[in-house]
Amino acid sequence: MRERSGSIRSQIDFAEILKTFRHPDRQELFDDFSENTLSNFYLPFGVAPNFKIDDNMYVVPMVVEESSVVAAASRAASFWAKNGGFKTTIHNTLKKGHIWFKWDGPKSFFANMPEGLEEKLREAVVPLTANMEKRGGGVRAMEIIPLEGEYGLFQLHISFETVNSMGANFINSCLEEMKEPLKEFFNINKDFKQYGETEIIMAILSNYTTECLVTSTVECPIEALSPFSAGMEPAGFAQKFKRAVDIALSDTSRAVTHNKGIFNGTDAVVIATGNDFRAAEAAGHAWAAKDGKYRSLSSCEITEKGTFKMDLTLPLALGTVGGLTRLHPMAALALEMLGNPSADELMGIAAAAGLANNFSAVASLVTTGIQKGHMKLHLSNLLKSLNATEEEQKAAMDHFKNETVSALKVKEFLKR
Ligand code: MEV
Repeated sequence: MRERSGSIRSQIDFAEILKTFRHPDRQELFDDFSENTLSNFYLPFGVAPNFKIDDNMYVVPMVVEESSVVAAASRAASFWAKNGGFKTTIHNTLKKGHIWFKWDGPKSFFANMPEGLEEKLREAVVPLTANMEKRGGGVRAMEIIPLEGEYGLFQLHISFETVNSMGANFINSCLEEMKEPLKEFFNINKDFKQYGETEIIMAILSNYTTECLVTSTVECPIEALSPFSAGMEPAGFAQKFKRAVDIALSDTSRAVTHNKGIFNGTDAVVIATGNDFRAAEAAGHAWAAKDGKYRSLSSCEITEKGTFKMDLTLPLALGTVGGLTRLHPMAALALEMLGNPSADELMGIAAAAGLANNFSAVASLVTTGIQKGHMKLHLSNLLKSLNATEEEQKAAMDHFKNETVSALKVKEFLKR
């Protein structure tokens, strides 16, 4: 292995590091999560206490490698707990999947679902849906939608309720099971057959879970904002804060960073609970661009009565059973810490964490800037990476209290 400096790391060293990070008793479990597993990659598992969400108090587990994220979430959580807490609205929890197919007939054939098709497809997946139906889920609705343009390409759009599971495996299994009966239906039925054979292109869930939406809101009297206004008049702070959010609502470059700050919190909860953060991010970013321009996922309002309001709406398809959620011991522990929430409840918690981080980040940006708080933790990481002794770390922390931190300056300080 080549180190960045160009020197060759010995084979022994390499094996030793991999071994150090393997779990002493339960490595087999981790090996099986993926393929070609050599070892484990540690990330900090922290908590943000004092989250009041829909009048329940939570200690929210967060897995994130970036310094300041957990501190920012914790600070915002404590503040909002004293100011009414986070409120959640679950708009819907439906997920969707598609079977894409090629057929060269007129689109008008699909103004309604062809007679008998839905029944045939539902029947084909009874062995898969029986258990899900007992839990209150299953296949919900079907329609056939042509792809824009004249390609002869269509999607069979199916919505699913997967209750407390994220449902990816369930949805994909159902879709794949429906492929053959769908093809058979078109290739046997003479009305369809007259336009030629139907070809199934693919079957897959969509991670654009626009019907699995959650909104998190906070509000307080403007005067109450003083703990975050860094000495500014709360009214001036609120105005500046709103302007910063408005900038992210209309400028894409700012919106991306603003939304990244939201996902600092949301992803940390999604990862801690063993959920799929790539799916959450992909859906969230597509939702941010739903009107053709990428915008902030959160917004801010100041009412005439002097109330400061913030909200965050995003699609979040999460599960609290199935997948890694119970298999990964730390994810199971995280869910236990949250009181074993339903998927809806977890959507609210992850959205609240996103809003908390967003609130903290924007409050810092319009007052002190983010570097002051950030650099303290950065300094600590830097000192550790430079193998500073405890004594050196203490001295450096003192020295850099009122000094700007940079890697070079810290190295020079240690040399001295
Ligand atoms: C850093 O991880 C996140 C922020 O850049 C978010 C923002 O700019 O709103 C501070």
